[in-house]
Amino acid sequence: MSTVTTASATREHRVTVRSLTARKRKAEPFTMLTAYDFTFARIFDEAGVDVLLVGDSMGNVVQGHDTTLPVTLEEVTYHTRMVMRGVRRAMVVADMPFGSFQVSPEDAVRSAVQLVKDGGAHAVKLEGGVAIADTIQRIVTAQIPVMAHVGLTPQSVNQMGGYRVQGRGDDGRHQVIEDALAVEAAGAFSVVLEGIPEDLGREVTERLSIPTIGIGAGVHCDAQVLVMHDLLGLNDWTPSFVKQYGNLGAQASKAARTYIDEVVNRKFPDEDHSYS
Ligand code: KIV
Repeated sequence: MSTVTTASATREHRVTVRSLTARKRKAEPFTMLTAYDFTFARIFDEAGVDVLLVGDSMGNVVQGHDTTLPVTLEEVTYHTRMVMRGVRRAMVVADMPFGSFQVSPEDAVRSAVQLVKDGGAHAVKLEGGVAIADTIQRIVTAQIPVMAHVGLTPQSVNQMGGYRVQGRGDDGRHQVIEDALAVEAAGAFSVVLEGIPEDLGREVTERLSIPTIGIGAGVHCDAQVLVMHDLLGLNDWTPSFVKQYGNLGAQASKAARTYIDEVVNRKFPDEDHSYS
């Protein structure tokens, strides 16, 4: 009996597609952060972050690549497993890396199934609008919730000719709106809006019934997402839309320099940190 009570209580507090949809209806903003391992997943989950994204941004901030293109499905699956072990409440969304959904809808469903079955993800995210609406529909039909991603889509870096703000001018604006409407119609439960003007973020948010999650898309989105390394100040450089909420890079560097100093001067380990 107590097991049943505990299990249902846990389920009640879990962030779900339904609870996020309700947050949009009630105009209550929610939060998403990227996470790539157990430790940070636990910290963010306990802090109350609603959604953790195992982003293909791991290509940049974990693996040190210039783009997200080299990230593999196996790597996202591996990191998703770590993140899953750290969460009790947050929804975990696994990013579908470049090459894991573009070849065919069948391939995309297979990749999404791997992220849910082997990684344990609650949902998947994929980049693209009108062009991948059919693929989104196929994944949703396989009972896997899909978070879409339109505007500046980093996997299209070669096509875009760099990381450029999208949705400027009449054609650009029309394209972002069409993409957002297409992914909603295809069954996505939410959509990331990246790198678009604030007023376009507002218009898309007003026109959709699913939550919009902004990154460089202004304050009117239903939710916000940041890459954890940007939030915590772990990167050398951050884009202008990023607000740094911590300075962990400088703190880590200071800790390492103090440690080196104490070791070379035989101050560490002292008596308090030695066995008698
Ligand atoms: O991979 C990622 O971290 C993302 C976010 C920037 C939305 O896609």
